[in-house]
Amino acid sequence: MAERNSHKSTTGPNIGPIPLNRRTLLGGAAVAALGAAGIGGFLFAEDRIGPWRLTARDIVDRLQDTAGGSFPGWRRNHAKGVAVAGYFDSNGNGAELSKASAFRSGRYRLAGRFSLAGGNPHVPDTPTAPRGLGLQLFLPDGEQWRMAMLNIPVFLDATAQDFYDRTLAFAEDPATGKPDPAVMKDYIASHPKTAAALAVIGQGAPAPTFATSTFFSLNAFRFTDGDGRTVPVRWRLEPENPPPATGPANGDNALFDGLVTDLRATPLRWRLMVVVGEAGVDPTDDATRMWPNDRRTVHVGTVVLDRIETESADNVRDVNFDPLVLPNGIEASDDPLLQARSAVYGESFRRRAGETKPVGAVVVKEA
Ligand code: HEM
Repeated sequence: MAERNSHKSTTGPNIGPIPLNRRTLLGGAAVAALGAAGIGGFLFAEDRIGPWRLTARDIVDRLQDTAGGSFPGWRRNHAKGVAVAGYFDSNGNGAELSKASAFRSGRYRLAGRFSLAGGNPHVPDTPTAPRGLGLQLFLPDGEQWRMAMLNIPVFLDATAQDFYDRTLAFAEDPATGKPDPAVMKDYIASHPKTAAALAVIGQGAPAPTFATSTFFSLNAFRFTDGDGRTVPVRWRLEPENPPPATGPANGDNALFDGLVTDLRATPLRWRLMVVVGEAGVDPTDDATRMWPNDRRTVHVGTVVLDRIETESADNVRDVNFDPLVLPNGIEASDDPLLQARSAVYGESFRRRAGETKPVGAVVVKEA
């Protein structure tokens, strides 16, 4: 199949009669690709005997159909990205909450990937396109902790079904190259959880650069300590002494160019903050809802990134940042998105694994 690498989305932030606070987020089709499937019982099998049920394959098909072109070899979401590497300095504070080896004091190597949401690897950077950060921590005894986070404080969908439906509702209309404002408006009006999440997200402007962005786990997880006690948690990465924003770089790769400049000037550091939820009170199965701001928050260590490279087989191009690859001591919560994400990332990974790999969308030149 011929690749259409030259395709560029023309979608801008002007998406019509959506209230301003929502418009800030809706940076284009990228947003459409932010989420997908759900269902108390997300279907892993592909059998369709009886009533229609959503599968991982359906969701990846929908992401492909709405990507604004055909992009074999690339991730079916968060296609545009760049590889980074560094380490996690664990300060030991997390050991009180979880027996995971990641929380034993020490330094653990990690690989990562910054990305923009959407299935088009050549989409121009826009400040409002949701930004992703995937991390793969290499822990003692061959364990790993993989996570994929976003720079928004809540997610737009509570279930995979909503992700699937919204992906279509927010997709570019081929006639205009932009999402259809009326369709989006109708969708938001009929999905109060999405409307509420957009209102929360719209309260703050996106940080100017990757280096100044906070990244959120969004989904809840469970930490188990050495005595078998379990607490619900979410986490976020807060920039620590971020470099002054590099000033708005120009061009289609402005955010990624700024990241290269910032990271080459000094290693970039984020504090890993674990928020401890109140069991039975704070929702663990609905990523569209915030937890109260006063929840106990524990600084468990610092992520330091000191290398940046074009994606390739030598770094994270062929990694699946499946959020369910977890060390002993960290488990999934009852959030249906987690099972859905794991299945969908796997399907996306399977497809791209069998396709010829293009050169990374963001080319990092030798320093
Ligand atoms: C049901 C909801 C979701 C669906 C269906 C979905 C789908 C996908 C897919 C297909 C990929 C590409 C996977 C690959 O080929 O490796 C991806 C990547 C990603 N997703 Fe999601 N996603 C969902 C929710 C979320 C949420 C809640 C977050 C953040 C907490 C998130 C953050 C990311 C990030 C950061 C990446 C890029 C990882 C990388 O660099 O490889 N996604 N998503």
